[in-house]
Amino acid sequence: MMLRVFAQRRLLGATARFSRAASSATSGKNVRYEIEDDGIAIVTFDLQGTKVNTLNMDLADEFKGVMSTLESDPKVRAAVIMSGKEDNFIAGADINMFTKCKTAEEMENLSRPSHAMFDQLASGKPKVAAINGSCLGGGLELALACHYRVASSSPKTVLGLPEVMLGILPGAGGTQRLPALIGLQNAMPLMLTGKNVKPSKAKRMKLVDNVADPSALKHAAVLAAKGLADGTLKVDREPKGVQKLINKVIEGTEFGRNFAFKKARDMVMKQTKGVYPAPLKIIDVLETSAKHGFCSKAGYEAEAKAFGELGMTPESRALVSIYFGQTACKKNPYGKPKRKENTVGVLGAGLMGAGIAEVTMTKGVDILLKDAKPEGLARGLDQIYKNLNKKTKKRRMTTFERDQTMSRIVGLTDSDANWQKHFSHADMIIEAVFENLELKHKIIKQFEAITPAHCVFATNTSAIPITKLAEASSRPEQFIGMHYFSPVDKMPLLEIIRHPGTSDETTARAYDMGLKQGKTVIVVKDVPGFYVNRCLGPYSDEAMAVLLDGASIEEIDRAMVKYGYPVGPMTLVDEVGIDTAASVGKTLQGDLGERIGTADPELLEKVVAKGFLGRKTGKGLHIFPPRGKKTVNPEVVEMIEEQRKLRGKPSSGLTSVEDIQMRLVSRFVNETALCLQHDIIGSPVVGDIGAVFGIGFPPFRGGPFRLVDAFGADKFVDMMLRYRDALGPQFEPAQILKDYAKQNRKFHPEA
Ligand SMILES: NC(=O)c1ccc[n+]([C@@H]2O[C@H](COP(=O)([O-])OP(=O)(O)OC[C@H]3O[C@@H](n4cnc5c(N)ncnc54)[C@H](O)[C@@H]3O)[C@@H](O)[C@H]2O)c1
Repeated sequence: MMLRVFAQRRLLGATARFSRAASSATSGKNVRYEIEDDGIAIVTFDLQGTKVNTLNMDLADEFKGVMSTLESDPKVRAAVIMSGKEDNFIAGADINMFTKCKTAEEMENLSRPSHAMFDQLASGKPKVAAINGSCLGGGLELALACHYRVASSSPKTVLGLPEVMLGILPGAGGTQRLPALIGLQNAMPLMLTGKNVKPSKAKRMKLVDNVADPSALKHAAVLAAKGLADGTLKVDREPKGVQKLINKVIEGTEFGRNFAFKKARDMVMKQTKGVYPAPLKIIDVLETSAKHGFCSKAGYEAEAKAFGELGMTPESRALVSIYFGQTACKKNPYGKPKRKENTVGVLGAGLMGAGIAEVTMTKGVDILLKDAKPEGLARGLDQIYKNLNKKTKKRRMTTFERDQTMSRIVGLTDSDANWQKHFSHADMIIEAVFENLELKHKIIKQFEAITPAHCVFATNTSAIPITKLAEASSRPEQFIGMHYFSPVDKMPLLEIIRHPGTSDETTARAYDMGLKQGKTVIVVKDVPGFYVNRCLGPYSDEAMAVLLDGASIEEIDRAMVKYGYPVGPMTLVDEVGIDTAASVGKTLQGDLGERIGTADPELLEKVVAKGFLGRKTGKGLHIFPPRGKKTVNPEVVEMIEEQRKLRGKPSSGLTSVEDIQMRLVSRFVNETALCLQHDIIGSPVVGDIGAVFGIGFPPFRGGPFRLVDAFGADKFVDMMLRYRDALGPQFEPAQILKDYAKQNRKFHPEA
């Protein structure tokens, strides 16, 4: 109620302000309004004091005032709605509005007024949205309420409804207007995955009516507005030919729609195991709305109610916290670097080096990619070209952009005459050669001698201490660790590791490079395994312990996927490589003591000795046929049985689905807590973000620290103590957890 009164008061104020100067140019705080020749009003969103337009109360109130003004002004025939920002139309609703809501009703009261506002926009004089840059969430819902949409062809222009990623749904009419405009079959994937679409695809699916060069966008929108006003522009969005027939069968009949909803539900259940409520709720809302008609009273009501319910779920609160955490990590804590990196040298064109080169060159940086061997270089260049080419096939990149990007890379080997000369221009080196201390020391010395004095040297080592590697450096203040995850083009996290001599400017430059590469960046301490792999160690160790304790490979994977992980630990070890996983375990052993190595290491050693290294050798814990699904390796099952007999220990009996989940999760979470206790990570936010983006810790649980908060530190500690008494000291809770339990504290007290 309070919200509505507040909104009404602001609306009256804004209307009065705008009606005073309707026909000439006029400006509100956030929405500019002017009338051009021929009676076309130009309405420009320009939220004050920020680079990005987001829909908040102030902006909405001003906009409502402007709309009333232009509807009542006889000089206005039609309007163009655009943004005053360089690279965004409206990037979505202000998420803080949602987090302030304490009840579902408060959330609903955000949704209902927006329905009324966009209905007002959709009625009356023709409105054309001129879209340049991100047009997401509430921004797209606004554009959908316009009568015509023109998008700029800028690579920064994207359209989408990403609300599902925050555990909610589009609450300002998106679930109604999108299917009404582009059909259920096109609308459902957009809403259920939250994926963005580019202008060309948006045009194909009739989400936008026209695409124009950014320089001609306003002109094209004004022309469309004039055409709509004088009736010379007729918009025909009706599907044609086969598509018309398909739509008639699927969307035009109850049977067809039920089939489409069932398929969508099955797909969501398959992909999420039902742990995310939002996509299922979206389908419910669409089903109700399809029955009563999109944009009907019942449709809007179903949307508002579901919006309120979802906003109060712990899943949504956790996903929003991840969003805020990720946004926080986008800000370079070491400030803006003084120097810009124009040329980056990547050493080693293997799996990691080629990946690092690819994510850097696609952001417009020149790359020198050097490998010791011509065949190594050729393999790396091929990996990059294939990846870029895949993007052109998926129409995420044009062939021109692919070729332009490839032209930024210079491939070099020792046999190229004067290869050293190229490196005299390098601003930063990222090394990804074999994991060998002597080799890395040798190349640090070699490249510091030929690169300019300002050049930063970064290493992508996974296990060698950065401090040890820095011993070979003549410019230790410019030496740093940049630890990427495989495959680099897909994995979103970058860990930055300083050694005691690394300067803040070098850290700022490495952080900035990570952001440029599109990574979520965290800074962690130089300890074995850094943060992510260190915590993964006890988790994987427990997975092996549970296996020897009686659970099967399939049971363990199923339990963890059900818990929300993208893959189970048994599949993960096959993907990483069993030999690699075993060697990471060994690296951690010296440091973690009894917190690792509790599972019998002999089993993995025997599996490795048999040549079962995982996917890379076609056989590991699973068998990977060239085509078709993987199956459990029966030879390994036999080896597990044998090992169980050799150990001669009876099963603890703690192998139920819940025990498997809690045993693995508690050991992971405990290690993250120890990392916070020992300042390996700077804050619980960094810990949550690292876990979610580094190993796929279930995002709807918000990360390990949010998980403890939701559990209650006291209950979490009690659970660990029970496991400790039954299974051993590897379950001893971290002191910080015990302290938080005693003091009844939360890691995220604001939640
Ligand atoms: N693979 C992963 O999952 C992963 C993840 C994070 C970090 N790392 C680390 O990244 C580094 C590279 O790993 P990778 O998996 O890409 O290995 P890789 O074996 O695929 O590639 C290494 C490449 O380095 C080249 N090379 C060797 N000596 C060289 C030299 N003197 N100059 C130039 N090139 C040289 C090799 O020819 C090879 O092409 C290692 O330090 C590894 O620990 C790997």
